Amino acid sequence: MTKPLNVGMIGYGFMAKAHSNAYAQVNHFFDLPYRPVLKAVCARSADNAKTFADRWDYESVETDWHKLIERKDIDLVDICVPNNLHAEIALAAAQAGKMILCEKPLAMNGPEGLKMVEAVEKARVPNMVWYNYRRIPAVTLARRLIDDGKLGRVFHYRAKFLQDWTISPDVPQGGTATWRLAIEQAGSGVTGDLLAHCIDTALWLNGSLDTVNAMTETFIKERKHNLTGKVEKVGIDDACTFMGRFANGSLATFESTRYARGHKALYTLEVNGEHASLAWDLHDLHRLQYFDHRDEGRLRGWRSIHVTDHGGGHPYMDRWWVPGLQIGYEATFVHQVADFLNGVKEGKPAMPDFRDAYRTQLVLDAVLQSAKDQKWVNVAKG
Ligand SMILES: NC(=O)c1ccc[n+]([C@@H]2O[C@H](COP(=O)([O-])OP(=O)(O)OC[C@H]3O[C@@H](n4cnc5c(N)ncnc54)[C@H](O)[C@@H]3O)[C@@H](O)[C@H]2O)c1
Repeated sequence: MTKPLNVGMIGYGFMAKAHSNAYAQVNHFFDLPYRPVLKAVCARSADNAKTFADRWDYESVETDWHKLIERKDIDLVDICVPNNLHAEIALAAAQAGKMILCEKPLAMNGPEGLKMVEAVEKARVPNMVWYNYRRIPAVTLARRLIDDGKLGRVFHYRAKFLQDWTISPDVPQGGTATWRLAIEQAGSGVTGDLLAHCIDTALWLNGSLDTVNAMTETFIKERKHNLTGKVEKVGIDDACTFMGRFANGSLATFESTRYARGHKALYTLEVNGEHASLAWDLHDLHRLQYFDHRDEGRLRGWRSIHVTDHGGGHPYMDRWWVPGLQIGYEATFVHQVADFLNGVKEGKPAMPDFRDAYRTQLVLDAVLQSAKDQKWVNVAKG
């Protein structure tokens, strides 16, 4: 029996769209104990909320998220708003006993994240953070290969997330469309926005990071504020590069920027182990590159695994099309909802939950502190 689970969505932007699509699709592809019902969407403007509700088939709208949380007919609150609002909403939702799905990064910083962790743990409400890249089948397969010991001892983990959309000094900061450039709304620049993804995947694939040494740069020092029109100092990092050491002894190299002309969302990662290496690239997301030194010498080389097979144990793919056909970015959210709903039934949360995402937050804090102090910083234990 599939039980209805009423969703209250807060926000109507990019992520609200990705999640709404996932709720709408998930039961078409997965056999699940629950069926998400799009009960209400909240936006500050009633017109915008109504337009979004009509498009995605939400039953009702709210213009104040407090009201949405108070509603008895909402089981699950989905937080799809700028980073500075995550904590306040999550604390209220936990107190109201709602399940919470929160967009990443969990919080503006570690101490704020810890309050959120404590709130959901005290309230015992199912919770999860939308670090969706774990659920790209090729990335999930990478985790399985590492768990199976295919790589052996890991020496290197490197990741990059490159974009180029803020190079023009005319891009404003703040407000609705460009909140990512305003420190008071975003908490940080590329570190919390892009590196947060790279760090989440890294901790998941390669274990905890002990210590980091970072540099950041703000290339455009002043920008016009989108709401006030005033030219103000830019507080976010435009680029961040850091190195670090993982607890398993491997070395970390991470880079992220919004100033890599020609790159729109180039998330790449590579892991080098004693027996094998693997590499993945978001622009070719269904492929996992794999090199195994134990292969017969004359055949040894990088394999490009098209992660679309069924029998071969390619994660999630037996739920979609016939072998060889691909799925896209939006499917990662479908997978995450499916895992969450199964987790709720089994009382076994799908990761990353708030506590797991808090560990990423602690790495972000250490990275920003290191860049500020220009020295190595140990990552606090979460
Ligand atoms: N998992 C991912 O890959 C991924 C990708 C993009 C964004 N994100 C995260 O998702 C969150 C939202 O990002 P986005 O890209 O969807 O942003 P967006 O700008 O597209 O949408 C943000 C939405 O929040 C709404 N909003 C702002 N204040 C509000 C309030 N007080 N009440 C109700 N609604 C309010 C805005 O009107 C807008 O609809 C951020 O935390 C971001 O870091 C995650």
